[in-house]
Amino acid sequence: MEKIGILTGGGDCPGLNPVIRAVVRKSLLEGYEVLGIKNGWKGLVENDTLPLSVNTVSGILPRGGTILGTSRTNPYKKEEDLKKVKDNFKKMGLYALVAVGGEDTLGVASKLTSDGIPNIVGVPKTIDNDLSATDYTFGFDTALNVATECIDRLHTTAESHHRIIVAEVMGRHAGWIAIEAGIAGGADVVLIPEIPIDVEEVCNIIKKRHERGKTFSIVVVAEGAQFKDKGLVTQEQKLDSFGHVRLGGIGEALANEIEKRTGYETRVSVFGHIQRGGSPTAFDRVLGTRFGVKAVELIKDKKFGRMVALQGIKIIDVPLSDAVKALKTVDMELYDIAKVFFG
Ligand code: F6P
Repeated sequence: MEKIGILTGGGDCPGLNPVIRAVVRKSLLEGYEVLGIKNGWKGLVENDTLPLSVNTVSGILPRGGTILGTSRTNPYKKEEDLKKVKDNFKKMGLYALVAVGGEDTLGVASKLTSDGIPNIVGVPKTIDNDLSATDYTFGFDTALNVATECIDRLHTTAESHHRIIVAEVMGRHAGWIAIEAGIAGGADVVLIPEIPIDVEEVCNIIKKRHERGKTFSIVVVAEGAQFKDKGLVTQEQKLDSFGHVRLGGIGEALANEIEKRTGYETRVSVFGHIQRGGSPTAFDRVLGTRFGVKAVELIKDKKFGRMVALQGIKIIDVPLSDAVKALKTVDMELYDIAKVFFG
């Protein structure tokens, strides 16, 4: 019986467990055995595995996170780790590997396909929705719904106390969560990494809103948004093994500026990892399930070095390298729609 390995890497997100379940169920139907690899690429470096059966994946569909665990390990950082990955792939007796991840995990998968492990297929995940070649990644819809609910909740306090509340959302260098949660939550200003922040303009929008009788405002800011004349606001400068800084803090900096310039009481709320937790929405469960089934079909058809993707309403496959070529940033048509409601 041929054996398929599966790993989940990078930040966890709702929808990973539905993918694992789908890969296992479809593989067993097709006559493959499935081996779970724990904690992303770290599990391949350390030969840390979890055999997966129909019973292991029973009941995981509505659960957030990943039963396999995850890490931000980059095996390309150390030559000895890369060697271990290749050796352990053989030791585990794997025929093929399903790599479930975002830009970083799939970047490693893409490199490996031309560097000793050709039989890999990719499944795109991330709450940031910033992967090219797929219209949506699973995890995004859940994060968007959580952020929207949080904005709804902030409205009541902002209105009752006549405050401005700045809501900082995740999304790294793309403003997808900010723009869509801003539209869905009725934000009065939305600030995204794609457009530098002009504080004067933000304050003018708020002042005008107050002049027409409103006594509160909700400002949504993406963690990766930047002031016109300054760089990224970060929690710490240390880079992770893929070279990313830890973002966060722009909300606080912006709230201080707004309060100083407008004189209105301004508070900040950072949604943080709440956006990544909890049960996946039905959309993410269905998308994860469709991706998982398609990934096994790709293996069956020997279509390696490819990634499953959603384009329109169809699940298709694209070269893994296409997915990680460029960051998918917010469509300016969507930004223009959000702008109609500013102020
Ligand atoms: O990529 C998903 C994401 O949640 C980003 O939106 C955020 O910048 C980052 O991961 C946070 O990473 P960590 O959980 O490692 O702090």
